[in-house]
Amino acid sequence: MSKPIVVSGIRSTGNLHLGNYFGAMRNYVRMQEAYNCFFFVADWHALTTHPDTKELQNSVLNVLAENIAAGLDPEKVTLYCQSAVPEIAELYLLLNMLAYKGELEKTTTFKDKARAQPDNVNAGLLTYPVLMTADILIHRALYVPVGKDQEQHLEMARNFAQRFNHRYGDLFPEPQAFNFGDDLVKVPSLDGAGKMSKSENQNATLYLADDDELIRKKVMKAKTDSGPIEPNSEMPDYISNIFQIMTLVSAPEVVEQYRADFNNAAIRYGDMKKQIAEDMISFIRPIRERAVELRRDTDYLRRVMTRGAEQARESAQQTIREARRLVGLDYLK
Ligand code: TRP
Repeated sequence: MSKPIVVSGIRSTGNLHLGNYFGAMRNYVRMQEAYNCFFFVADWHALTTHPDTKELQNSVLNVLAENIAAGLDPEKVTLYCQSAVPEIAELYLLLNMLAYKGELEKTTTFKDKARAQPDNVNAGLLTYPVLMTADILIHRALYVPVGKDQEQHLEMARNFAQRFNHRYGDLFPEPQAFNFGDDLVKVPSLDGAGKMSKSENQNATLYLADDDELIRKKVMKAKTDSGPIEPNSEMPDYISNIFQIMTLVSAPEVVEQYRADFNNAAIRYGDMKKQIAEDMISFIRPIRERAVELRRDTDYLRRVMTRGAEQARESAQQTIREARRLVGLDYLK
């Protein structure tokens, strides 16, 4: 039996943070054995919002290095750059004929981006969901491991797949969001508001590239108070967030001890934060060091991308050949 096909796109902008790691990366790493995974750096997508491409190459290599350092194994998954697979662009063109202006304009991410960059509401931005659909359908993937924010895009992908199948003949499965159930961890921000994210407060978000001192500094600044006055007090949200962060990187006994201290109204948040900082450093440091090492080995990263692109194109060409035939564009041979 062949393994079910999984596709996911990794944004090429910005460094990975703890939220990316526990929310997505860790699950990608777990999937690589049981599924046939195609993971790619979404560099074409980046052009919709980042028209200046000076930094692009560097970002792509960084993202690749960080993802491999965080556990993606290029021997187990097909790791490539979207722009190295031109078949995606061809499928995107075909799918664009099935996507209507009205529905594209209604997409939440389009509305947000159009508001954020009113001087550059380009057609690529409008058709972002179509390109994302092409990314997925090009390998006829069944599962797409993405967060809640991508659900609308995935629903559109199913619609486009269905329309293609209906108009031209059955080719595409309808891709589903891969559900991790309890494993989908939201990592709260250190300032007690929202979750860790690269667009929010930088000082409240821990990056896999942060050095030891910076990690210490950020953790020590996390929001606390003078502690509960009475035993078994109700825990404020920002304290419960800190416990949640501690649970990610500290030993269960250690977390339990601090929980007991809280319930006995004897907790010392300074000590707790020192503990979290040190455990966080032990967690992040090896990933950071590995990423730096990999980033220096540009030749290796290029070899990974080249081989990944070859594998991805092999799969993509089979799909495109079928798509051309079904649409009726196979008259050249
Ligand atoms: N839109 C996704 C994001 O913002 C990235 C992405 C592009 C993607 N193409 C994809 C994700 C295909 C899954 C499958 O995170």
